[in-house]
Amino acid sequence: MQIRPRLSALLLTVAACCSGAVAPTPTRVPAGGAVASAAPAATSVGLGILKAGGNATDAAVATALALAVVHPVAGNLGGGGFAVVRMGGEVAALDFRETAPAAARADMFLGADGRPVAEKSLVGPLAAGTPGSPVGLFELHRRFGRLPWRRVVTPAIHLALRGFKVNARLRAELEFGRELLSRFPETASVWLPHGRVPAEGTLIRLPRLGAALQAYAERGPQALTGGSAAAAIERTVKKYGGVLTAADLAGYRAVWRVPIRFPLAGWEVASMPLPSSGGIILGQTAGVLERLGWASLPADSVERDHLLVEAWRRAFADRVLLGDPATTRASEGDLLAAPWLDRRAAEVDRSRATASRDVASWQPAPRHELPQTTHLSVVDGAGNVVSLTTTLNGSFGCGVLVPRLQILLNNEMDDFAAAPGSPNLYGLVQGEANAVGRGKRMLSSMSPTVAWRGDDVIALGSPGGSRIPTATSQVLLAVVVDGQGLERAVAAPRLHHQWLPDEILAEPGALAAAGLDELRRRGHAIRSVDRLGEVHAVRRTAAGVLEAVADSRGPGSAATTQP
Ligand code: GLY
Repeated sequence: MQIRPRLSALLLTVAACCSGAVAPTPTRVPAGGAVASAAPAATSVGLGILKAGGNATDAAVATALALAVVHPVAGNLGGGGFAVVRMGGEVAALDFRETAPAAARADMFLGADGRPVAEKSLVGPLAAGTPGSPVGLFELHRRFGRLPWRRVVTPAIHLALRGFKVNARLRAELEFGRELLSRFPETASVWLPHGRVPAEGTLIRLPRLGAALQAYAERGPQALTGGSAAAAIERTVKKYGGVLTAADLAGYRAVWRVPIRFPLAGWEVASMPLPSSGGIILGQTAGVLERLGWASLPADSVERDHLLVEAWRRAFADRVLLGDPATTRASEGDLLAAPWLDRRAAEVDRSRATASRDVASWQPAPRHELPQTTHLSVVDGAGNVVSLTTTLNGSFGCGVLVPRLQILLNNEMDDFAAAPGSPNLYGLVQGEANAVGRGKRMLSSMSPTVAWRGDDVIALGSPGGSRIPTATSQVLLAVVVDGQGLERAVAAPRLHHQWLPDEILAEPGALAAAGLDELRRRGHAIRSVDRLGEVHAVRRTAAGVLEAVADSRGPGSAATTQP
């Protein structure tokens, strides 16, 4: 197998920031489809749109907007994301990642001693990048949607205005975020009414968010990124010491990019290029494993686990070179080129772990995974697929809510390297290419991915920061290489390695006792963790059978239109 980055065709299209709805292509979509997302109410919205004749893009955008109402920990209009789609045979990737505000400076998150101050890049609006979701979701629909824009936004308006009930997940997330949310009175008054985490079953109504969505339905992104909405965002940001302005919001553009594409066991895979490292990590992992003959080794064997970890170790070591595609120190072409993959595969010792310090030199401290990003996957009756990951970065972003719009702002600035060599929220060590710079996009790990073989199509992805590409690649390998069913592949216990810290993270059951001993004997450090990622995946087989799987690690929800 050869990795084939299609960089010669690297023609980027900057999406026009449209005002007013543009009529989408009215192609008929055969009935049927499936949706998997982090919240039952959002999955129902997506399914309703499919049943109303919408295509996968209509359903994905409607699901994302519903998540912006009922899943405030990650669903958003104040954050950003990526989508990889295969619509009518056309494969495309939309970058609606946040950007650094014009006033951002390389040293803005450093203290007097020149060291990063995590609080600055995580809490409060200084941590907020210019949101990309309002323009991005609109642009995705403009290019590939079928139903009128207003129809796609309406279910989210209804959820916000009529209300929805707090479920166990939302209650647990609000409990987890209580300290952050209570720092900002505007946020607390919405999400901690009377200073308390609302009980399960409490009805939440968000009238201002509903009105903001109504305006978005009528006027497009301009309703959220211009005029009085932008002024309200700037006012709230200024109040708490942030630098994001109305001019940043007005200047934001989503960008169509050429997806990373590579073959895998007879399937074609497409995933997200820079400014996400996700597709490169997936492509490098697949390319190195193919060279090491991974597919022919026994499933669930120590040999496989060892090689998988060694491939990830090297892919994440290269990640330190990456950043905004305009300033990155290595391109997809460099890192996915056959000679580089040959060399990486040749470096792997089949019987010993390579110490990460021998692959490269930075050393971070471990941090915890937080349930922040969210992924949704949709397939429609025509086999069109949308894989969309969106995020506020940390849970509830920077904690600040714009009262006039009831929109939470992200803390994506922490995804920049505040100082090369210092770990971010995910313990990721990053390089100069990802230093803070005005207007730059911060490097991501999000990996919305689609794969197909003939008429058999899959869409998948995950939240989890640096764990995203490793969770996604394990499910992809299980389905595509080993022919596992989607449900089993998503449920299987996972491993993770990200170069630094130099340790394997293992979910319970991922390694049998003998495997654990053997990996330790080979020189791997291993640490147990509760969970790695939360993959939401859908599939439509060539025979038209639909599958939708929400990861049992979370209370997400998946459904098909088939009874
Ligand atoms: N905010 C996490 C990521 O983009 O990877």
